[in-house]
Amino acid sequence: MALGAVSLPLASRAARADTFPSRPITIIVPFAAGGPTDVLARIVAEYMRATLGHSVVIENVTGASGTVAGLRAARAAPDGYTITIGHWGTHCLNGAIYQLQYDVREFAPIALIASGPQLIIGRPNLPARNLKELIAWLKDNAGKATSGTAGPGSGAHVAGVFFQQLTDTNFSFVPYRGAGPALNDLMAGHIDIMFDQASNSLPQVKSGTVKAYAVTSSSRLASAPEIPTVDESGLPGLYIAYWHGIWAPKGTPGEIVSTLSAAVTAALAEPNARQRFLELGQEIPPPDRQKPDSLRSHQAAEIDKWWPIVKSANIKAE
Ligand code: MLT
Repeated sequence: MALGAVSLPLASRAARADTFPSRPITIIVPFAAGGPTDVLARIVAEYMRATLGHSVVIENVTGASGTVAGLRAARAAPDGYTITIGHWGTHCLNGAIYQLQYDVREFAPIALIASGPQLIIGRPNLPARNLKELIAWLKDNAGKATSGTAGPGSGAHVAGVFFQQLTDTNFSFVPYRGAGPALNDLMAGHIDIMFDQASNSLPQVKSGTVKAYAVTSSSRLASAPEIPTVDESGLPGLYIAYWHGIWAPKGTPGEIVSTLSAAVTAALAEPNARQRFLELGQEIPPPDRQKPDSLRSHQAAEIDKWWPIVKSANIKAE
């Protein structure tokens, strides 16, 4: 009797893993449609379909810098049918900034998918022609200038606070439900600047609808070599690498995580997917560094690095 009671759930769990997936899978995107996380999720989802044999559907759950989606993803059934994409902000910064009803470390990692820098960008009619002139313009417009963010405590907000500290500037932050809507308002001239993921703004930089001042990395982007680095622009060391990963709820069986992980890795090996990531300024890690354990250790290292920085900078979500 006792043996039966113990072995039944294990047997049914194995059976579920054997037949997984038998229906569509949902990837929760914690920000607005059309923004950088949404775009990366849709590329991966498109190519995962081929391996899994079922559609992979995107559901945008927005609000509070991805924490509304975080709770939803944490509470989803651990059966592999609801997973979430997240990044440096949602799965690192939010744990230091918000009082959460879940732990950003509690998810089952599936894959580390890409990393890319931010761009410091401005509205198209901003008079500043380079980063030094932008800093001077922000000082001339102290307290009046505005910077769009993907929410309070988001990566765009945190980067903006560090920029303020380094440059002794003062501007206010305008929160949106994602970097996509914030960028629309920047193009329309409703806000002045953004610290934006390159994957969001590169197409607009290329088409001249926003101004790019610097890339937050030590080297220029292969897909946009005309944009200088922060080091070259007089703001050395303001490096921000915005990495993205995919997670399942904790308790998801290992076999199901492995199936999903293999599907993500196959998607990221597709030449068309790779080309699209490259054009968006995204570096895809080699396959052995995409694995669940690599995402787990990368997230842990980022938390060790950033939580003390964010806490000592006293960055608050309100
Ligand atoms: C988004 O998709 O809106 C972004 O990933 C938000 C962010 O920059 O944190």
